Amino acid sequence: MTHIRKAVFPVAGMGTRFLPATKSIPKEMLPLVDRPLIQYAVDEARKAGIEEFIFVSAAGKGALEDYFDTAAALEMQLKAKGKTAALDALAPSRMPEGALTILRQARPLGLGHAVRQAKNLIGDAPFAVLLPDDVIMHPTGALAQMVQAHSEVGGHMLATMEVPQASVSSYGVLDVRETHGRISWARGLVEKPRPEAAPSTQAVVGRYILQPSIFARLDALGPGAGGELQLTDAINQDVETVGVTGFNFDGERFDCGSVQGFVQATAAFAMARGDLSETFVNFLQARQNQQQQAA
Ligand code: UTP
Repeated sequence: MTHIRKAVFPVAGMGTRFLPATKSIPKEMLPLVDRPLIQYAVDEARKAGIEEFIFVSAAGKGALEDYFDTAAALEMQLKAKGKTAALDALAPSRMPEGALTILRQARPLGLGHAVRQAKNLIGDAPFAVLLPDDVIMHPTGALAQMVQAHSEVGGHMLATMEVPQASVSSYGVLDVRETHGRISWARGLVEKPRPEAAPSTQAVVGRYILQPSIFARLDALGPGAGGELQLTDAINQDVETVGVTGFNFDGERFDCGSVQGFVQATAAFAMARGDLSETFVNFLQARQNQQQQAA
């Protein structure tokens, strides 16, 4: 099905909203139930047919890089002890030979700058970008839905979701020209608009399918909001030439870069797990009853 083989995972951000944990743990290694955030993003990419994984990493992210490496000593010990279930649990963190490339972003100059690092590895085919701190709960994944839709419309495609008007200032927002089903054609993008100035309530979240023409835009880009090279600014410049669509994906998105979103995701994923759900829900209910009685 796929015509998208490569995906870029920008993982060089500082994760300041998650300090002090991110002082020594990469944000992408924070575990949602029992898997790090990056595993969810890689799994979603695999479901969409991605075969080449490009991490744009940074100094201090060694744990993230080790995670997808072979843990020879650990595997030997587990084998020797006959711990097959534990061995099987490692399977998703294995990468086929040559499938993973790790680049370094020398300084955190923004998402646009992070994506630009992958220029020489992408070639001339469209590619995906996944931000691992946006976790999307859906059986087949949001990216697989986008790959399917992109094969019909081409151009740059961004994942979008409907948000309350009051929240638009936290997102890039689509200026919508027309909508057919889940696809909206954009007149442009506005980064973090004031609610009263927002052109729509279609907010951009961290999944993109981009044409390689984006790199020429990124090369020529000056600093945008927050003094950073903004990916949305580069995409915005291609509205007339390449075409930009928003894809209103099916699934529930959690902003795991924020403490609130991460805690909610933890509850949602625990409740979705057959082996944890009942005990966890009972615990929450008992807890809530205690609090109500104490109030
Ligand atoms: P965020 O806006 O969440 O920034 O980046 P951040 O630094 O990770 O987190 P806070 O805001 O300080 O808490 C969105 C995505 O872009 C990547 C991040 O790793 C994340 O996946 N990113 C951001 C980079 O790779 N490099 C950058 O310079 C900036």
